[in-house]
Amino acid sequence: MSEAITTVLDETRIFNPPQGHQGHIASMQEYRTLRQQFETDFDTTWRELAREHLSWREPFTRVLNSENAPFFRWFEDGKLNLSENCLDRHVEAGLGERTAIIWESEAGEVRRYSYNKLLSEVCRAANAMRELGVESGDRVIIYMPMIVEAAIAMLACTRIGAVHSVVFGAFSPLALRDRIEDAGAKLVITADGGGRRGGVHALKPNVDEALSEGCRSVAHVLVVRHAGNEVEWSQGRDINWHDALNVQPDHCEPLAVESEHPLFILYTSGSTGKPKGILHSTAGYLLWARVTMRWSFDFRPETDIFWCTADVGWITGHTYSVYGPLANGGTTLMYEGVPTYPDPGRLWKICADHGVTIFYTAPTAIRALNKAGDEWPNKHDLSSLRVLGTVGEPINPEAWMWYHDVIGKGRCPIVDTWWQTETGGHMLAPLPFATPTKPGSATFPLPGIDADIVDEAGLPITEGGGLLIIRKPWPSMLRGVWGDDQRYIDTYWKEFDGRYYFAGDGARRDEDGYFWVMGRVDDVLNVSGHRLGTMELESALVSHEAVAEAAVVGRPDAIKGEAICAFVVLKCEPDDSLVEELRAHVSKEIGAIAKPDDIRFADSLPKTRSGKIMRRLLRDIAAGREITSDISTLEDQSVVQKIQQDRP
Ligand code: WTA
Repeated sequence: MSEAITTVLDETRIFNPPQGHQGHIASMQEYRTLRQQFETDFDTTWRELAREHLSWREPFTRVLNSENAPFFRWFEDGKLNLSENCLDRHVEAGLGERTAIIWESEAGEVRRYSYNKLLSEVCRAANAMRELGVESGDRVIIYMPMIVEAAIAMLACTRIGAVHSVVFGAFSPLALRDRIEDAGAKLVITADGGGRRGGVHALKPNVDEALSEGCRSVAHVLVVRHAGNEVEWSQGRDINWHDALNVQPDHCEPLAVESEHPLFILYTSGSTGKPKGILHSTAGYLLWARVTMRWSFDFRPETDIFWCTADVGWITGHTYSVYGPLANGGTTLMYEGVPTYPDPGRLWKICADHGVTIFYTAPTAIRALNKAGDEWPNKHDLSSLRVLGTVGEPINPEAWMWYHDVIGKGRCPIVDTWWQTETGGHMLAPLPFATPTKPGSATFPLPGIDADIVDEAGLPITEGGGLLIIRKPWPSMLRGVWGDDQRYIDTYWKEFDGRYYFAGDGARRDEDGYFWVMGRVDDVLNVSGHRLGTMELESALVSHEAVAEAAVVGRPDAIKGEAICAFVVLKCEPDDSLVEELRAHVSKEIGAIAKPDDIRFADSLPKTRSGKIMRRLLRDIAAGREITSDISTLEDQSVVQKIQQDRP
């Protein structure tokens, strides 16, 4: 068992919510009443919520259609437009001059976009996309740095019913090509490059490389001039974003789409094969983005400055950097740069400079900044902060306590939010001004979310460890895997014969009913909060000419949560340069985030007699732990000894 998990198991501290402020959900009593309402009157409660929080072009009458389960449909006979809900609605309410987005670059440049300005930019972009032939239902790839144009591109897609798929800027040209092809995208929106560590991270050249083979569906590439790096230009295909937008009117009639109109595809790693395109649809996703902002963060759009540090390439960036804050008419902050540039106080300086009130980040960042020392946060005035959030992986109690004491000065509730790309928004989370918190626990399911911990037969576990599942459907759930219905069924619904959504995570319930998420139970790694499939990493390694076979496992890491450890069987003799070469190869295949931390060469891999790699055993070896797995089924017992001797 990893150290982090052992400390979580011993954790008994409890922190009561701060007094003197009435949250959107103000007490545990109110929480229980609301939960009860969902239980006794599921349809009515969701109906009222969707009517209250969304602005509809055509009202819906039907709440949930389960006829073709697990392909659920929500609010299906209603019509709306997402960008209208995020922009026009607030402008019409007289909030046009309110700041929608504050953007800061690594070099310290600051730009502010009011709702008026954002709306006109989104309209111009939508018009430009239409002129390039993008129609409702067409797919658009967005491969951008953390700049406002990324949010504008996303919103512009929604304005005309196009389906966006944002690809994280650190993914390689090959990974980008896979996604473009899988989505069958018509348009790619990118930038010349982004600012990183004082230099430039080029993006357009990656797009050129991705498009150099296949990708026949792509007609145009829209390029934002941002970093100023030299880029090649393919006449007829490449279009300058600024030129294209400049000639467009700043009005674009939003297209009213059906609630179930596809909104976006976001690729994420699974335990098998290539990344899968998680598909979300319009109304349900938007509803939950808006509501969870209020419930889990106690978001007050009139006064809060909300900062979620996630890149828009991840689901957290979609829901909580862009759609959640804007759906509420609030102010969101975007920072383009690394958290430690020019020094480890950068994030805290941004909080102080902009008066950030709600701050949301990942445990890996908290651990790294904790390690850098208290002097960095202590240099800055953090008194504007009122709620602190975390997401992406289990947070160890030490990091939680540091966040609570040193960043929040003991005043700010910590909301540990458990959710996934697939769930669209928060599933488990404390209500900051109601729920007593425990360091390392995401506490309880939000109202409306029927999450539970069950054993392998599907029976609820009242206390102890089991598998995390969600029983009833919820509006922001994934609608499928793009182009692969069977994979959707197999991955999420097969484990419990279609009765529950299986999240792929293990969790424990303590004597007070608190949920403690323990991490993935499948072959998915969580490296610095990023999901990576072991199969994906293995096939990247095996695609190198020197590699005969590879097995990848996670090893506990104090900062990243998990580090990538690869056991590699070579076709040739190892030489000194090969480790670096393989790391570079994986980086080229997938992206820099996938570079293995350790590569160990082995004569062969430990396998069972039926030929399955014994990953548990490799995990023990990678972590330098005593071997606890049963190795009696191992085909060749001597392999274990050899691998252990082959330490780097
Ligand atoms: C993990 C990120 C523990 C979990 C929103 C999940 C967490 C995966 C937490 C989803 C948390 C996310 N505590 N583990 N608060 N939040 N996870 O799709 O293993 O990038 O299945 O979505 O991250 O990662 P994804």
